[in-house]
Amino acid sequence: MKKIAVLTSGGDAPGMNAAIRAVVRYGIGVGMEVMGVERGFQGLLDDLFVPMNMRSVSDIIQRGGTILKTARCLEFKTEEGQKKAIKNLRAHGVEGLIVIGGDGSFMGAKAMTDRGFPSIGIPGTIDNDLAYTDYTLGFDTACNTILDAINKLRDTMASHERVSIVEVMGRNCGDLALYTGLCGGAEVIIVPEQKLTLEQIVKRLTDGANAGKTSGIIVLAEGAGHADELKEQLRNCTDMVVKSTRLGHVQRGGSPSCRDRYLGTCFGVHAVKLLEKGIGNRIVGIKNHKFYDMDIIEGIAQKKEFDVELYNTAAIVGK
Ligand code: ADP
Ligand code: F6P
Repeated sequence: MKKIAVLTSGGDAPGMNAAIRAVVRYGIGVGMEVMGVERGFQGLLDDLFVPMNMRSVSDIIQRGGTILKTARCLEFKTEEGQKKAIKNLRAHGVEGLIVIGGDGSFMGAKAMTDRGFPSIGIPGTIDNDLAYTDYTLGFDTACNTILDAINKLRDTMASHERVSIVEVMGRNCGDLALYTGLCGGAEVIIVPEQKLTLEQIVKRLTDGANAGKTSGIIVLAEGAGHADELKEQLRNCTDMVVKSTRLGHVQRGGSPSCRDRYLGTCFGVHAVKLLEKGIGNRIVGIKNHKFYDMDIIEGIAQKKEFDVELYNTAAIVGK
């Protein structure tokens, strides 16, 4: 392939810029032309193509978000939308596409390949909800952002002897809550994969209080409930002073961690290597510290297994 394009789609994630940078610089390094497409699949339809050079990606490795911008695009899900996207790509002489996003975006990459346009997916989402890869781009940075918030909440909760509920993102996946709960020393971690009753939550808190704890942190995954609702429930059945914080989109921003820059760079290079060989319909991932690629549908079909052992460990060490 002589000319390829890269876009970011779905929710942004720290590390996407590192991946774009790697695609552009590695692609140019092996003699390809590289185009950026702004606003995800929408940009394919609206012809938002930008020629990239080595300097287009200068000074971005440390920046969160995505310089190419991102969007969700309903029209792209239609046959007409996909045909128009391919027509526009071909009009620019582009022969292969790299899509950085989550499983929805991967379906877009698959649709393009099925229509004869080789496309590769790079996992970019803070949720870490893709089973085929141990880590997605942005998860590590989001964990660090959440941890920073937990540390700060812990200071004030300890001073006032209160309980804090911290609601974190993740859609239906509890990984953000699990890892930040474990590493933030949470007394209780509530995730969609391991539902706890109100009685169990209260028992954990009272057991802690009986063991000498004077404050507490509950990390609640958004897929398992809302911080404000749980706060009301706890206020109604205990005499603890409970506060709630919904971290929201602050979790999606910020300078990517070393790990996310590393993942973004290696995912990007791996994706270009596939297109160099004319290979499409693959998603790039990391398993047991090794970068690899697999068929899109096979990868998406894998069911994410929640790490119950780690969850149980967090409960023991959080006592
Ligand atoms: P994510 O990639 O983070 O999972 P979404 O599920 O919102 O985010 O998907 C991002 C975009 O991918 C959608 O707005 C749409 O343009 C495209 N997309 C999602 N599902 C499909 C599909 N089944 N076929 C084609 N394109 C899709
Ligand atoms: O998929 C990433 C994510 O940040 C989820 O954790 C969250 O539920 C969702 O996107 C929020 O989406 P939006 O930015 O559209 O509010």
